[in-house]
Amino acid sequence: MSARARAPIRLAAAPAPGDVLCRVDELGPPPGVLGLEWFEWDGPRRIVLTRGEEGVVAFHNECPHALSRLDSPAGSFLADDGASLRCAFHGARFSLHDGRCLAGPAQGRSLRRFPIRLDGAVVRVAAADRPALAGRRARRAKTS
Ligand code: FES
Repeated sequence: MSARARAPIRLAAAPAPGDVLCRVDELGPPPGVLGLEWFEWDGPRRIVLTRGEEGVVAFHNECPHALSRLDSPAGSFLADDGASLRCAFHGARFSLHDGRCLAGPAQGRSLRRFPIRLDGAVVRVAAADRPALAGRRARRAKTS
């Protein structure tokens, strides 16, 4: 684990819209990253919050190339350039700001956003996009 990596924070329960995910200062100064995870009925959910010069955003911790988690070891999200996210499995790099793939085998794809909003010094789950909270597995279950 690099000096900048921190173990993800494990939430006691799935966060609901309006819930506080963390304090902004827990992300560290830009480029800051923080992983969060929790368990739902069908398995773990993982997200990564990023703090770049443009602000704070959150993505599902799931690479669009082969749907693996990005960080290995857990909490190691930043690429060697210190300014992008890196998938540990095949090395794709992603923008901290919009999740777009910058290099590697996920080119043309992006990390899926997780809905957040800033509320003063804290990051909360945004209320507008509840289906995104359920994640890929729940969407699959709906269609089968
Ligand atoms: S699984 Fe992420 S680059 Fe292949």
